[in-house]
Amino acid sequence: PEIGCLSIIVLGASGDLAKKKTFPALFHLYCQGFLPPNEVHIFGYARTKISDDELRNRISGYLVSERSASPSKDVSKFLQLIKYVSGSYDAAEGFQTLDKEISKHETSKNSLEGSSRRLFYLALPPSVYPSVCRMIRRYCMNKSNLGGWTRIVVEKPFGRDLGSAEELSSQIGKLFDEPQIYRIDHYLGKELVQNLLVLRFANRFFLPLWNRDNIDNVQIVFREDFGTEGRGGYFDEYGIIRDIIQNHLLQVLCLVAMEKPVSLKPEHIRDEKVKVLQSVLPIKDEEVVLGQYEGYRDDPTVPDHSNTPTFATVILRIHNERWEVPFILKAGKALNSRKAEIRVQFKDVPGDIFKCKKQGRNEFVIRLQPSEAMYMKLMVKQPGLEMSTVQSELDLSYRQRYQGVTIPEAYERLILDTIRGDQQHFVRRDELKAAWEIFTPLLHRIDNGEMNPIPYQAGSRGPAEADELLEKAGYVQTHGYIWIPPTL
Ligand code: BG6
Repeated sequence: PEIGCLSIIVLGASGDLAKKKTFPALFHLYCQGFLPPNEVHIFGYARTKISDDELRNRISGYLVSERSASPSKDVSKFLQLIKYVSGSYDAAEGFQTLDKEISKHETSKNSLEGSSRRLFYLALPPSVYPSVCRMIRRYCMNKSNLGGWTRIVVEKPFGRDLGSAEELSSQIGKLFDEPQIYRIDHYLGKELVQNLLVLRFANRFFLPLWNRDNIDNVQIVFREDFGTEGRGGYFDEYGIIRDIIQNHLLQVLCLVAMEKPVSLKPEHIRDEKVKVLQSVLPIKDEEVVLGQYEGYRDDPTVPDHSNTPTFATVILRIHNERWEVPFILKAGKALNSRKAEIRVQFKDVPGDIFKCKKQGRNEFVIRLQPSEAMYMKLMVKQPGLEMSTVQSELDLSYRQRYQGVTIPEAYERLILDTIRGDQQHFVRRDELKAAWEIFTPLLHRIDNGEMNPIPYQAGSRGPAEADELLEKAGYVQTHGYIWIPPTL
């Protein structure tokens, strides 16, 4: 591993993302010894003129770690690593000051000698990405005499459609090379998403089954049981497809559907993901159901006549030898439950001698959250004297199987990857482009008012039309059986 000074600069330090995700993730890493105090310095940068201590006070309430033996001591030691610099996002002055502050540590006698590593985390709205990147490029690059690197971490929304995303990519691309750019999709940092590759390619079980001959349909579902609380203004600009489906669910789809990569090298994996995306056929209007929950427009930051969907079910079809089965992507806010899962439904057993078809099909479910688990719904003999069948499951519930193991937070893992220089779990530029190509025509039709969401009650399953679409696509719902996450 590289040694020397590592500077982590959180731009937009006083904002929500930084407070709720970036600093807590850094704190987790700190508690586990990944950010040694004699190497690491953390800088907050934002426009607000506040002192170091004011920034520390703002974030300290969000720093909790079950992994720390003495939490309050760790919090105060961690906070001491943070310095604050204020400045604007498009003027030289602030960035020059920032550079001076970073350099001080890199050349200080107290720091370990070695490279100058600079990680810029843009917890900012994308509108300022180009100017911030320009400033970093001009004033804040790592000191070449010390070696090291400069990396940029950015987060969605990367544009609103293909055109704007490409524009943004090319602006940033002129300033930084692809290996310096880390586009975060935090779903790629989730334990069970990372497990997909192992599951699919390290198990003989799945190899022969994972195709159109055996699988009838695949659902990738995201449900939240709360609305756009406090984020109505942002959300209304984007809608559920841009907020969840085009990025998080599509990334999951890639990992479920892609071919085996040549190796585990990040570029090999990302090559396969791009191929899947490029094989997706144009979305048909009749394979889309949009919804908007009643009460969404009551938010004062949402326009009275907004037609932004807060729910969508979209069927994607992958035109290749393995698939051509429906991949149903479904996401919604203000629904009756909170969960994210992948549900792979198998075809009926041919020649059903048990007459058990009505009890439901085999399903393999990967519960991403909450209660991480993988379970297989299968048919067994009902225990007892009769020869009858009942649906049951083989269950690998993480909380039970991995007691005492803390599953890392997505951001924690991904930030560590950016420090280590591993881009496997980050979105490459051509991947992003291919993702936008899939959804842009549909998004434009919605933006132009050619497709409108169906109202649904907050706290419900979403519009009934979505269930009808699922049924049309071939999904068979299992009645009377429900998987219960085991309690300890
Ligand atoms: C974010 C979306 O990317 O993901 C939010 O902008 C959403 O709208 C969130 O609530 C969900 O993330 P998680 O990790 O809670 O599933």
